Amino acid sequence: MITVHSVRELRAAVAHARAEGRSIGFVPTMGNLHSGHAALVEKAGQRADFVVASIFVNPLQFGPSEDLATYPRTLVADQETLLVAGCHLLFAPSVAEMYPQGMDGQTRVSVPGVSEGLCGASRPGHFEGVATVVSKLFNMVQPDVAVFGQKDFQQLAVIRALVRDLNLPVQIIGEPTVRAADGLALSSRNGYLDEAQRAIAPTLYATLQQLAAAIDAGERDFAKLVKSGKSQLKKAGLRPDYLEIREADQLRPAGSDDRHLVILAAAYLGSTRLIDNLAFEVAAPH
Ligand code: PAF
Repeated sequence: MITVHSVRELRAAVAHARAEGRSIGFVPTMGNLHSGHAALVEKAGQRADFVVASIFVNPLQFGPSEDLATYPRTLVADQETLLVAGCHLLFAPSVAEMYPQGMDGQTRVSVPGVSEGLCGASRPGHFEGVATVVSKLFNMVQPDVAVFGQKDFQQLAVIRALVRDLNLPVQIIGEPTVRAADGLALSSRNGYLDEAQRAIAPTLYATLQQLAAAIDAGERDFAKLVKSGKSQLKKAGLRPDYLEIREADQLRPAGSDDRHLVILAAAYLGSTRLIDNLAFEVAAPH
C-alpha cells in the first residue's frame, strides 16, 4: 500500500490502476480506524480491483463546539489496519490540500430533505460539510464503487441522494454496522468513553432492539414507544438527543402502514455523543 498526500499523486496512482484495466473501489474515512472500517475496505476489495481509502478529518462537517481539535489522529496505526484489510492506496491530504482557497469561499453541496431532522437538526451544517467533502473526494478518486457504513444511516441516505441528484457515476454500497460483543456499535468516538460510560453504552442498541421487538409484536403507537425508549435511556444514564422511528428509504416519519422501518437514536454519555440505528422489515398484517 502506498500513502499519498496530494491530489496530483492520487490522480496519477488511480490513472495508473485504470490504465491496467482495474476497477476502483473507494472508502472515505476520518481515520482512527477500527474493524468496522476494515470491513468497509474488505467489501471494496470484493467489489473492485484497486482499493483507495482516504483519511481526512474534515473541518467543514464539525460544528464550532464539536470535537474537531481532539478527534483522534492515528495515521501509523491506520496505515497498518488498511494494509491488512487489502487497501492499495491511501490518500491522506492536509486541510490546505483539500481546501486550497480556504473553507469560507468553498463551493458547498447541500442535499435537501434527507439532511433535515435527526443529526441534521442537532448538528447544523454537518451534512453540507459531509456532502461537500464526499463530492470533492469522488471527483478526485473517480471510483466505480464507494462503501459507507450503515451505522451513519442518515449520512448514507444523504450520499445516495447526492449521487442520484448529481448523476455521479459511482455505485454506493452500505455495509452493516460492526458491533462489540455487547452490542455497542463500533465508533471512533467510543474511545472517549471512560469505563463506567462504556458499561452503560450498550443500552443504546438494546433500547432500539426492544422497540423493534415491540413493533414486530404489533405495537403501532410510535409516540408511546419513543417516550418509553427515551425514559429507558435516561434511566441508564444516557441523555437522549433524539430517538425517532422513520420509514427507512426516504427517512420520512413512519406511518403505521410502512413496512421498511428504521429506529434512529443519538444520545450523550457525558460529552460523548453516540449514534446508532436499527433497520428492519415489518411483516404485513394477515
Ligand atoms: O463517515 C465519515 O467518516 C465521514 O463523515 C466521511 C464520510 C469520511 C466524510 O468526511
